[in-house]
Amino acid sequence: MTGSRTLSFFCLLFLCAASFFACNTPHNSTPQTFLYQTDKEVQALLPIRPDYPDTRFAVVSDLHFYDKSLGVSGSAFQKYLDGDRKLLALSEEITAAAMEKISKEKVRFVIIPGDLTKDGERINHEGVVKVLKKLEYSRLKVYVVPGNHDINNGAAVQYAGDETKPVSSVNDKDFEVLYHEFGYNETLSRDKDSLSYVLEPEEGLWLLGLDSCKWKENQPRAHPLTGGAFSASTLAWIESQLILAKKENKAVLAFMHHGIMEHYPANQKFYGQYIVDDSETVSKLLAAYGVRLVFTGHYHAQDVTQKEFKDTGDFIFDIETGSLATAPCPYRVVEIKDGHRAVIKSVFIDAIPSMKDKFSEYARDFVFNGTVTMANARLDKYWVSKAQQPLITGQVAKAYGAHLSGDEKKPDPVINPEGFGPWLRFIAWMQKDLINGWWTDLPPKDNDLVIDLATGAVN
Ligand SMILES: [Fe+2]
Ligand SMILES: [Fe+2]
Repeated sequence: MTGSRTLSFFCLLFLCAASFFACNTPHNSTPQTFLYQTDKEVQALLPIRPDYPDTRFAVVSDLHFYDKSLGVSGSAFQKYLDGDRKLLALSEEITAAAMEKISKEKVRFVIIPGDLTKDGERINHEGVVKVLKKLEYSRLKVYVVPGNHDINNGAAVQYAGDETKPVSSVNDKDFEVLYHEFGYNETLSRDKDSLSYVLEPEEGLWLLGLDSCKWKENQPRAHPLTGGAFSASTLAWIESQLILAKKENKAVLAFMHHGIMEHYPANQKFYGQYIVDDSETVSKLLAAYGVRLVFTGHYHAQDVTQKEFKDTGDFIFDIETGSLATAPCPYRVVEIKDGHRAVIKSVFIDAIPSMKDKFSEYARDFVFNGTVTMANARLDKYWVSKAQQPLITGQVAKAYGAHLSGDEKKPDPVINPEGFGPWLRFIAWMQKDLINGWWTDLPPKDNDLVIDLATGAVN
């Protein structure tokens, strides 16, 4: 090993260790105690399991809406795209196409678990509001919560040639005003410490819209924090609403931006900021009160995972919906019937006005090529030669794309090391848990499934 490689080896180990510990720092240092754990009266309410009323709704996530007037050409925009994989230049068209399709799905309401905009720009929020208003004209209610990109985002910019210029962005107060008619004007209760709320979209069904974002900690002119957390006060508010729901015999569903559990092995280790801090506490709290389904976004993948708490027998599903602005450009339709059956199907946008044919292939190639570009940049930092890079970047992009689409079928071997030199072999070994994780489809199925909300059985 040469001197520079020895140095890079230790740098790499240090970076991996540093990012590992950073990702796993819990938000609350002392464990919070909940009433369901200590209060006999509350514990007596827990066995109450009301039937879910019949309903049908759509879930669409991570629109990352981008108004093209902010610039879609020039070197500054290209530089941004080199570190991104979203179809920003087409997001207006994709969003419009999706909403048009959703308006024909005979759903009662639509939920959007955050990342409505590219980076919280006011003009992009206004574009989203315009699109959502159209849905409401077709008598569809729409409910939103913020994603990490939507509030106090210092990266709200426009692109002109080789320059980026800051543009007007929104804070939490603006968000609530902008989305007044998309949740905030019909709440039964509003959390004082976040943009979380509860409402009743269907008689007998409460919907918890949870704001899991750290917008209070975002810094001016800086990228927003990717991670998510609930304060102790928000968790106490969530529990108070769950207790009330029991007393009033309401079934409860929830939606939020961040995941409440891992979506693949090593998810926490490599991308811990995509799972809400202290996720075990959050998922256990919701499960204890019989919340069976939580709809999430953020990682841009079509992925459903489940967790069972052996001590109580409680269970909960995290139903992550991929980004509308990233292949396979999905949305979900959920139908609840017979009091306890949730039938989930996935629909993919396969045509937009400017690309009637081959949009699916274009979107798939876009994310593949974007991942290759990002992997090349990472391998440059790890001193992997340009000649060696193509031997692995395609494999990385394929694994990532498979995870985004869901229902992954793991290849054997997961990484084909043909032609790898000793250094690339080492780098591949360092990343093997991530690539293996992307290919590992934790149960249950991801795209089309039926969940028995009474027993947790899936088919
Ligand atoms: Fe996103
Ligand atoms: Fe996000």
